[in-house]
Amino acid sequence: MNRLDGKVVVISGAARGIGAETARLMVEAGAKVVIGDVLEERGRQTARTLGDAALYVHLDVTSEENWNAVVATTLDRFGKLDILVNNAGLFLGKDIETASLAEWERLSSVNLTGVFLGTKLCLPALREAARDSAHGSAIVNLASTAGLVGSTQDPLYSMTKGGVTLFTKSAALEFARKGYRIRVNSVHPGTIDTEMGDQVLVTRARNLGTNDIEAARRQVIQRLPIGRMGTPNDIAKGIVFLSSDDAAFMTGSALVVDGGITAQ
Ligand SMILES: NC(=O)c1ccc[n+]([C@@H]2O[C@H](COP(=O)([O-])OP(=O)(O)OC[C@H]3O[C@@H](n4cnc5c(N)ncnc54)[C@H](O)[C@@H]3O)[C@@H](O)[C@H]2O)c1
Repeated sequence: MNRLDGKVVVISGAARGIGAETARLMVEAGAKVVIGDVLEERGRQTARTLGDAALYVHLDVTSEENWNAVVATTLDRFGKLDILVNNAGLFLGKDIETASLAEWERLSSVNLTGVFLGTKLCLPALREAARDSAHGSAIVNLASTAGLVGSTQDPLYSMTKGGVTLFTKSAALEFARKGYRIRVNSVHPGTIDTEMGDQVLVTRARNLGTNDIEAARRQVIQRLPIGRMGTPNDIAKGIVFLSSDDAAFMTGSALVVDGGITAQ
């Protein structure tokens, strides 16, 4: 189950957090992984721990030039590209009254433009690889529970992730209509223990009128049917599944990995 033997993957934002854990699981599953991120030192360190099967390449997802360079390096080093994980993302943690236009533009350029550019600029290589593959190529986009229901903490983040949710479905339909054999699916994490997860807790604490992050954590956990916060590993397993041929009949779908929060 969930094997990726011989597959070549690009993961954006994989220097740390969910992306880094996904890179680790994918290498374990037999893939070669290109880690794209703006965090040079952290990205190189993450790649180093994975040996020859991983490579760090500088990638700002808002730059066409950077995406083209990542694709060129991937083809040069590993010969093809089978899987793209659009994982890089920002959280803002401000409400509508305090967020500025500049903050919205930065947030949307990473969370929305970054996903569009990654999809568009990796497409030719993904199409090419799909021709020689039994079940074609795959794209997995990191949306959020905040892309399915409204966010109590960050309406602008929620707007971007809602966009990712429907872009995923639309891209799945477009590529199917064109016969490209590229499946496109999204993953929707709840609150996950990463550096972004910490930012979410800081925002929640501020909205509770305190600096007590642990109080915010307790509040999150109390509301979670499963009774704990998610880990990067919980999410990475879902991403590996959607990337693998075990998900061969899935496209345009939304995999919710949230400890039950949106079930209530
Ligand atoms: N942690 C959560 O609670 C949570 C919940 C729902 C969805 N998500 C989504 O999962 C994804 C990963 O989140 P995470 O928790 O691992 O966050 P994180 O902040 O720990 O990691 C995000 C990574 O993206 C990178 N990044 C930011 N801007 C970039 C850019 N312009 N170009 C390239 N890389 C860039 C960062 O450097 C970082 O390495 C994000 O899309 C996030 O929105 C996270």
